Amino acid sequence: MDFKKLLGYEGKNVVITGSASGMSKSATEMLIASGANVYAIDKNDIDLPVTKSFKADLSDKNEIDEVIKELPDKIDALFLCHGIAGFPGRELLVQKVNFLSQKYMTEKLLDRISKHGSVTFISSVGGFGWEQVYEKCVELINLPTWEDAINWYENHPDDIKSSYVFAKQCLESYVTYKCMAPEFINKRIRINAINPGDTTTGLTDDFNKSTSPTGDAKEGEEMINNIFLKSWNGYAANPKDMGYPLVLIGSDIFSYMSGQLIYIDYGLTSNWKSGALLNKQNKSIEEISKDNN
Ligand SMILES: NC(=O)c1ccc[n+]([C@@H]2O[C@H](COP(=O)([O-])OP(=O)(O)OC[C@H]3O[C@@H](n4cnc5c(N)ncnc54)[C@H](O)[C@@H]3O)[C@@H](O)[C@H]2O)c1
Repeated sequence: MDFKKLLGYEGKNVVITGSASGMSKSATEMLIASGANVYAIDKNDIDLPVTKSFKADLSDKNEIDEVIKELPDKIDALFLCHGIAGFPGRELLVQKVNFLSQKYMTEKLLDRISKHGSVTFISSVGGFGWEQVYEKCVELINLPTWEDAINWYENHPDDIKSSYVFAKQCLESYVTYKCMAPEFINKRIRINAINPGDTTTGLTDDFNKSTSPTGDAKEGEEMINNIFLKSWNGYAANPKDMGYPLVLIGSDIFSYMSGQLIYIDYGLTSNWKSGALLNKQNKSIEEISKDNN
């Protein structure tokens, strides 16, 4: 069996964001090795032999529009992977980077995505419980323009207070809501997301600092360990643990899978769900993980 042929990326046009670092960098390396023409975008320099790289701040609609002009007319797979941690005071920026830019790019590029193409996001276990805010997310998803969304955010400060969490919940809602929407299903465009657990990447330090109420990285690291690792005596993943499955999900190997949120967390969230189903209904992630430790 020819593994490259099974993946189906040879000679195909693939667009991927966030390639300068972490999970997306691993995914980009695999896409190059699988023979794809890779168009990679990041706000930082990308030191990989891609077909073409673009430096752009994807929180800025004008910069996105400029890059989109340069992307190929036919795209076979789109991977949206860029992301930042949520610090107090930058709730709007987090919504723009972690959700709005991803929705905007998807919808702007949809006409160019080929029949049986794929769109794959990196969301997070941080979006766990997205079902509880689904209606709110759908309200936002249905707003047609970037400006409408910004307006919505400005009028819903309480909804975006959870910052990173809400942005990821929107992404997960988007996959669920859109998989059978005519603009996707009529062209058989698959849409999925991976939900990674704790992974050591360029974001680790920011996650540590933003998790601690005082911004102390050591304290934040301990809190993250308590929530994500302690209950299973676990360890953080490395970028390949996420980047490689991401590439598979966008490939022909997963040709019949759409609308899925794939948790890659060694079972942690299934364990949370089990606890919630048995006797811990309506508890937060922190409360469930405390009970499990
Ligand atoms: N690291 C974790 O523990 C973890 C867990 C769950 C989900 N995630 C998600 O994984 C994705 C990848 O992050 P990572 O952990 O590999 O971190 P990373 O920092 O190593 O990679 C993120 C990349 O996104 C780019 N980026 C950020 N903001 C951008 C912007 N405005 N415009 C263009 N590029 C921008 C960065 O330059 C960087 O190259 C993110 O969406 C993150 O939320 C990470």
